[in-house]
Amino acid sequence: MSERIEAVRGTKDVLPADVYKWRYVERVAADTAACYGFEEVRFPTFEKTELFKRGVGDSTDVVQKEMYTFQTKGETSVTLRPEGTASVARLCIQNGLFAGLMPLKLFYSISCFRYEKPQAGRYREFHQFGVEMYGSPEPHADCETICLADRILRRMGLNDIELKINSIGCPSCRAEYNAALKSYFDSHVSELCGTCTERLQRNPMRILDCKCPSCAAVASKAPKITDYLCQECREHFGHTCDTLADLNIKYTVDPFIVRGLDYYTRTVFEFIDPRSGLTILAGGRYDGLVSQLEPKLKVPGLGFAMGLERLIMIMSDRGLSFGEHKTYDVYLAGLGERGSRLAFNLAERLRERGLGACTDLMGRSLKAQMKYADKTGALYTMVLGDSEVDSGSAELRDMRDGTVRRVDLSKVEQWF
Ligand code: HAM
Repeated sequence: MSERIEAVRGTKDVLPADVYKWRYVERVAADTAACYGFEEVRFPTFEKTELFKRGVGDSTDVVQKEMYTFQTKGETSVTLRPEGTASVARLCIQNGLFAGLMPLKLFYSISCFRYEKPQAGRYREFHQFGVEMYGSPEPHADCETICLADRILRRMGLNDIELKINSIGCPSCRAEYNAALKSYFDSHVSELCGTCTERLQRNPMRILDCKCPSCAAVASKAPKITDYLCQECREHFGHTCDTLADLNIKYTVDPFIVRGLDYYTRTVFEFIDPRSGLTILAGGRYDGLVSQLEPKLKVPGLGFAMGLERLIMIMSDRGLSFGEHKTYDVYLAGLGERGSRLAFNLAERLRERGLGACTDLMGRSLKAQMKYADKTGALYTMVLGDSEVDSGSAELRDMRDGTVRRVDLSKVEQWF
């Protein structure tokens, strides 16, 4: 016998009992972003591989190890998007959006693909809600973006998520910092893990992010970026921190937040769940990304992305609300030939009015139909047999409190 085909490792099905949670978090996030003037964009699931190499950075783990890349029949190398920022920048360049009004504020809700080791809160196909803002180099733009992230999490009912921020400077101050870091780690190379020994050559800042205990111990005494920021980057970070404090947004400055993607400059931030230690949402400023993709353009940008699997898992663990899980309004149980016909007809009349209605499609007994209505979460039930057909009226039972009302079957519009 042939083997049963199962979903690919690191991917996840979402069943009807959970889909309403997804709809809820996506709706709350989109509505909150709209309050800040963001508009939705949609873009392809795959892009030319070169976009991510140039945008996300050739030396990052994402590009080096985690991309799902394949050749198309036309021999073009394409990649399933590992994130959304590079695609949105490409979309804006290609569609001339940078010629329009600034700031430009966009949001998206997408699937992403990374070949990572699956574990709790980490998948190979996962989903992000993200925002990108272009055009403003001002610290107020950093603060507004962080405020939006904070407000989304609060609207979900998450009030204790920790915000960590840092500034990783601009290419000029970072060059000096990287040299200092490299010489520090060079003198501790025997204490670093294999991956970090490689990172030492390519991107020493990534060592600061390593979870391996011996690397973390070495990293804890490494030079700090905040001591190497140039005057302008220091002022930018200072203004950002002061404005956050003015707005009563709690944060800690963590010089170990360096982010795994190459495009970041200046402000970077992560929102971390203190209970699981998972990063729910992360982002930062990327003033060089657009010119990296289109040298004629110089447009500052910043944004964040929130992991939806992680968000939903953390909210579920805390018993937070996902709004009402509504299934359908009325179950019409048919009894006998005439009753069943009427039930079938009334169901269509209700649907025409935009109400949810179900009726028997399995030839079940009345008792079994009522059991089905109960299990599937019908808000109301109605039994239709010969006497209801003859009288033209029937009882509409509210399943939540058991109350019953007699209604005219010819006046569906008066039922609710
Ligand atoms: P990122 O930190 O790579 O940033 O991902 C953002 C969020 O996506 C993470 O904090 C996490 O919640 C979720 N995430 C990442 N990888 C996985 C995974 N394998 N499984 C489940 N969830 C995951 C970015 O992607 C940037 N594009 C964010 C950004 C937008 N920066 C500026 N604009």
